[in-house]
Amino acid sequence: MKLLVVGGGGREHTIIRYLKKNPEVETIFACPGNGGMAEEAVCTGIGATDIEKIVAFAVENAIDYAVVAPDDPLVLGCVDALNEKGIPCFGPKANAAIIEGSKVFSKNLMKKYGIPTAQYEVFEDMEAALRYLETAPIPTVVKADGLALGKGVIIAMTRDEAKAAVRDMMEGGIFGKSGSRVVIEEFLTGPEVSVLAFTDGKVVKPMVSSMDHKRVGDNDTGLNTGGMGTIAPNPYYTEAIAEECMNTIFLPTINAMNAEGRTFQGCLYYGLMLTPNGPKVIEYNCRFGDPETQVVLPLLESDLLTIMRSCTNGTLAETEVKFADKHACCVILASNGYPQSYKKGFEITMTEEAKAHTFVAGGALKDGKLVTSGGRVTGTTAIAGSLEEAIKEAYRISDGVQFEGAYRRSDIGQRALQALK
Ligand code: AMP
Ligand code: GLY
Repeated sequence: MKLLVVGGGGREHTIIRYLKKNPEVETIFACPGNGGMAEEAVCTGIGATDIEKIVAFAVENAIDYAVVAPDDPLVLGCVDALNEKGIPCFGPKANAAIIEGSKVFSKNLMKKYGIPTAQYEVFEDMEAALRYLETAPIPTVVKADGLALGKGVIIAMTRDEAKAAVRDMMEGGIFGKSGSRVVIEEFLTGPEVSVLAFTDGKVVKPMVSSMDHKRVGDNDTGLNTGGMGTIAPNPYYTEAIAEECMNTIFLPTINAMNAEGRTFQGCLYYGLMLTPNGPKVIEYNCRFGDPETQVVLPLLESDLLTIMRSCTNGTLAETEVKFADKHACCVILASNGYPQSYKKGFEITMTEEAKAHTFVAGGALKDGKLVTSGGRVTGTTAIAGSLEEAIKEAYRISDGVQFEGAYRRSDIGQRALQALK
């Protein structure tokens, strides 16, 4: 089979590595891919949102199956466009990807179908939003409606901060059209859990739970990033909570999307907060998380391609989705200065051991050498029988990845470890 994976980061490198375990797979093309995965996939360089070119390439190369991984091509209708040419895909159509593409849509969906989430109000008029903030409970959370590269959420500790966020989004246009509508919602507290789930639109099969580390600094300090590391499973997510989530959140969401005529097929990512009043949805993503994928797929014992195709064919109920009873930890190495400005082009070297455990997010080939080309550069994953061991191994192995200015957090998994004790 010839496969095409849309995307070019660490998540896509991970997906490609696990798709290749299936002996039916001959070649995987990536759009665009990155230099760090060039030994495992043919990197086309075609941009992930250049849908016309992606479709033309897929037709020309007789692609048998495509996996659309990032949010923006999904929201833009990449799956619809490939399907129109008869190419089956893993990933939701645009009318279902809106569950991530519009926070107003997802909040209204949850309200309509009684799915637990933070209380909220939607505003299209800035003056009305500012008036509401005069009396709203503080802290409060201001969210841009549309995709904003994961930066469209402001946790405001004061009324002035909240008002400034509303002005920036609605008047300053810092997120363009994405900020022309805002959601202002209740501030929730509790441990956060990421649950990625396979769904064919009929049944939901959750993957092992995970925990992201979004802040750049140790002890969750400093700016927000795309994620500096992950562990799986998440110790806060007990079996009882998993069962409650299935009944109050996972299945009701799939059913709600069906009722709206927006059947969701693919990977639905439930961003949950375990509040004192039970699990609530913080956000939905219409795709695999990054770097959650880097700890979840290495624990998958069943065949990834078989599962993905069953989501497309509507046969997920009969398909095995089994995870190892082990622990995983992924440590991200970032460019010095990330998530603000940083330099690129430094050579990346890896020991053989590190290479086997590392997924490249920001790497490019230059004169035959792998060099840094992004903020997050690599993610190194280790698996072990205990979380403690997985963390130790991930750090030890990631010592084998080197480039100038490499930065990593030193405490990935420590909070989870404390929770276990
Ligand atoms: P999102 O982009 O929706 O994932 O939000 C980014 C982060 O903001 C989440 O991972 C949470 O840590 C935090 N967050 C979002 N919504 C809330 C809320 N209602 N209460 C508290 N924290 C929140
Ligand atoms: N790691 C969070 C996300 O992929 O959105």
